[in-house]
Amino acid sequence: MQAWVIGNWKQNPATLQAAKTLLDDTNTELKSADLAACRLMVVPSLVHVSSLQQQETAIAIGAQDISAHSAETGAFTGDCSAAQVRDAGATWVLVGHSERRQYYGEDEATLYQKVKNALSQQLGVIFCVGETKEQYDSEQTFSVLTSQLTVIEQLLAESNEESLAERLIIAYEPVWAIGTGKVPTVEEVAATHTHIKAVIQGYAGAEAALGEPCVLYGGSVNAANAAQFAQADSVNGALVGGAALQADSFLAIAAAFSTAKSNS
Ligand code: PGA
Repeated sequence: MQAWVIGNWKQNPATLQAAKTLLDDTNTELKSADLAACRLMVVPSLVHVSSLQQQETAIAIGAQDISAHSAETGAFTGDCSAAQVRDAGATWVLVGHSERRQYYGEDEATLYQKVKNALSQQLGVIFCVGETKEQYDSEQTFSVLTSQLTVIEQLLAESNEESLAERLIIAYEPVWAIGTGKVPTVEEVAATHTHIKAVIQGYAGAEAALGEPCVLYGGSVNAANAAQFAQADSVNGALVGGAALQADSFLAIAAAFSTAKSNS
């Protein structure tokens, strides 16, 4: 499976000009890199998506959010629908990021609607899961993830999606590792990814629709630690926040994954 390295720009940078410069810089670095075993995506602010997708780039553009209420149009002030996001040029969307769960109270029912809406408009979904520090400390990581993944179980049970293999990515992001500089050990991440894959592969219909799920690690990934995560077979790439805001560190992470995966 080809690796994915995805940059989540969150509410950065402050201006469209700076977003264009960041994408230009990333493209320039990309030209001199050999990333045959790695696919790249950046996920800018929604307001920048349509301008950035006009730039000449081999990097996929994703969106950070879509409306749970309607896949197309409707009276939902402040929302952007999956259809609008797709029309603006995004091909993927993040769903279930811990910042959305934490600050906007997004629960499993909301996330399920978002996943359904995304798929109905041919957007791929990067579905994020992860435990808090308290849950990690009390050894509830696996049970929390199992419960968060029921959104995927419901999707497989209720939809007739023929193939999700190219349209569903899972991102494991421990909440306590996001933006903190703290990371779990590679062994912990590898074991957690194995758990996530086993849970999903145990769902009815998963084998036919998905095969082996693509599972990325996210949370304080940087140029210095990427290679160690990339070496784990069950880690299929990275979801990168802070280190994606510099072209050189983002591409260094991608290079670490491309090297590790082309050797495996
Ligand atoms: P971080 O963010 O790399 O800055 O920890 C990751 C994320 O939130 O996706």
